Amino acid sequence: MSNATYTSFAIFGAGGQIGKFITEALVAKGANILILTRPSSKTSAAPGTQLERVDYTDVGAVAAAFKKHRVEVVVSAVGLEPQALDSQETIARAAAQAGVQLFVPSEYGNPTYGAKEGLWGKKSRVVELLKELKMPFLCLYAGVFTEYLPGLLCVDSGKCLIAGEGKTPFSTTSMSEIGGYLAFVLTTLPPSQLSDRFLRIEGDRGSLHDFAVRLFADKVPVVEHVAVLPAASAPHAEFLAFLHREFDSGSGDSRWDCVSGKRIEGAEGNHNALWEGHKWRDAREVLGL
Ligand SMILES: NC(=O)c1ccc[n+]([C@@H]2O[C@H](COP(=O)([O-])OP(=O)(O)OC[C@H]3O[C@@H](n4cnc5c(N)ncnc54)[C@H](OP(=O)(O)O)[C@@H]3O)[C@@H](O)[C@H]2O)c1
Repeated sequence: MSNATYTSFAIFGAGGQIGKFITEALVAKGANILILTRPSSKTSAAPGTQLERVDYTDVGAVAAAFKKHRVEVVVSAVGLEPQALDSQETIARAAAQAGVQLFVPSEYGNPTYGAKEGLWGKKSRVVELLKELKMPFLCLYAGVFTEYLPGLLCVDSGKCLIAGEGKTPFSTTSMSEIGGYLAFVLTTLPPSQLSDRFLRIEGDRGSLHDFAVRLFADKVPVVEHVAVLPAASAPHAEFLAFLHREFDSGSGDSRWDCVSGKRIEGAEGNHNALWEGHKWRDAREVLGL
């Protein structure tokens, strides 16, 4: 492996919520970008990118696309649906077959490596597979998208609703900074600093209670603790309640290590500084408050 930086990327899920930000940031770095999308998808080529439609379940077809475009790094930003996360298995096998040098699995949220169950368990198993395939990987943990904080607290219900204690701090990072950070490290750092790494970033931190008071106290002054988030209070109320419980356990902190069940203290627990010269935006700035 040479010490030159990566220049050629394939992105899955480029038209999705976080995928758009990652793609835009890599395009701005002048990288060669291949968007891979399902034949049935409405995703189209973003300016400065090439696009191929490919059956994600066909290892040979995906590997052929990687080889044709001399892809060095695969970035996955597929969605959280079980089928989308499962498609990463085929993509990982294709990447190994085609000699891709680095695989970035779809993470960009709470730390998941070491989780055994549910969607986080599925994400963790992708990393286990990459290890088995000896495919170098880079996982980026960033906590909750900062843009999600109003929805997370169900502010549209007229109150800030918290399922549980809501007193434990967790990490938040804006989508544009997740995209910008990933593009910066992938195009700036030498491959030796990117392989088999878990990078942990954080734009802001606070507990649900802190954020309710700090961000919304003027417009939504009532903070109510509930056992269950009512379905009418927010779309995906059940998933939000799951996240609130995660925060209470401490695992919404991007420093969290699911293997040991503890925070990683010191420099190995936070990698914001790798984005040299960047001024991280707190939640007020991101939300324009
Ligand atoms: N930190 C947070 O607060 C937070 C919030 C949301 C998401 N995330 C994480 O960010 C990652 C991406 O999530 P997202 O919400 O950005 O994704 P998304 O917008 O829901 O979907 C991204 C892409 O996934 C592909 N996809 C959808 N269904 C699929 C299927 N059945 N099989 C294969 N591919 C499928 C589609 O790409 P094509 O149509 O081009 O094939 C789609 O554009 C996930 O790991 C998620 O957990 C984090």
